[in-house]
Formats: sequence, structure tokens, C-alpha cells
Amino acid sequence: MPKVKVIHGPNLNLLGKRETLVYGTVALAEIDSAMKNLAGRLGLEISSMQTNSEAEIVDSIQKSDYDLLIINAAAYTHTSIAIRDAIAAVAKPAIEVHLSNIHKREEFRRHSFIAEVALGQISGFGPGSYMLALRAAQKILMGAEPDTAE
Ligand code: DQA
Repeated sequence: MPKVKVIHGPNLNLLGKRETLVYGTVALAEIDSAMKNLAGRLGLEISSMQTNSEAEIVDSIQKSDYDLLIINAAAYTHTSIAIRDAIAAVAKPAIEVHLSNIHKREEFRRHSFIAEVALGQISGFGPGSYMLALRAAQKILMGAEPDTAE
């Protein structure tokens, strides 16, 4: 089974309690569990981690224990050349995810270092952004139309 690695960056451990008007009331554990469920139905193996540390994100990207990366680098999206370079170095397909629409918010959120090395970006659909990313992952890894697998 193709392996998908999901990385949640800084402060996403506070989802559900943090700025709920922007990020909603769903906790990270609920998102992970919904993703696990959908991944099973799509025929994908999934592993997920959250860290507040940029170095840990780089270390995890460098481990070649996955076929495709789904990453919400959170605030590091807008600052981290190290994460950008790690994604470029491993040359595995990556999908960038954001809960909020980063293009509709403060100016400093509009630039993403990740976008330059990702296949694409899904932004603005709340927890649904991760689910859309998984469906895209299935299409990329298995060549199937995502909706035919349901
Ligand atoms: C975020 C958007 C980022 O700008 C922000 O720093 C986050 C979360 C999102 O998922 O909408 O922490 O990545």
C-alpha cells in the first residue's frame, strides 16, 4: 500500500481551542482520525505527526519512509527555507495544506516557501483541506479518480 506521511506544524496541537473563528472547533486528533478512516477506504497507509519544532519537521521529511507528503507547515510556511529545501532534496511528491485561506488573510501569509516545491496547495476548507489532499494523494499515487474509490 502506498504510504502517506502527514506533518502538522507549530500550534496545530491547539486546534479546536486556538482562534476558533479562524481555525474552527475540530481538534487535531479528530482530523487525524478522519484522515485515517478515509485513507483506509482509499487504500492508503497513513502516518501522522505534529511538532512545534522546525528541525523535527526537516528530520521527518528527510526520512524516506513514505511515498507522498501532506504538510501543513503552519507559520513555518511563510518563513522556512529549511523545510522548503528538505522537500526539494527528497524529491517525493508533496501537497501543501492549510485550514484557512492564506490568500485572504494578512499580507505576510500570502507567500509560501512550500508552494514552490509542492505539487499543489489546498487552502481554506478547514479540516476538509486535509481530506481533499488525501483524495489528491490517491490520484497521484494510484492513478485512480479519487471519487471512484468510495
Ligand atoms: C495555517 C495558516 C498559517 O498562516 C498559520 O500560521 C497557521 C495555520 C492554516 O492551516 O490555515 O498556523 O497553516
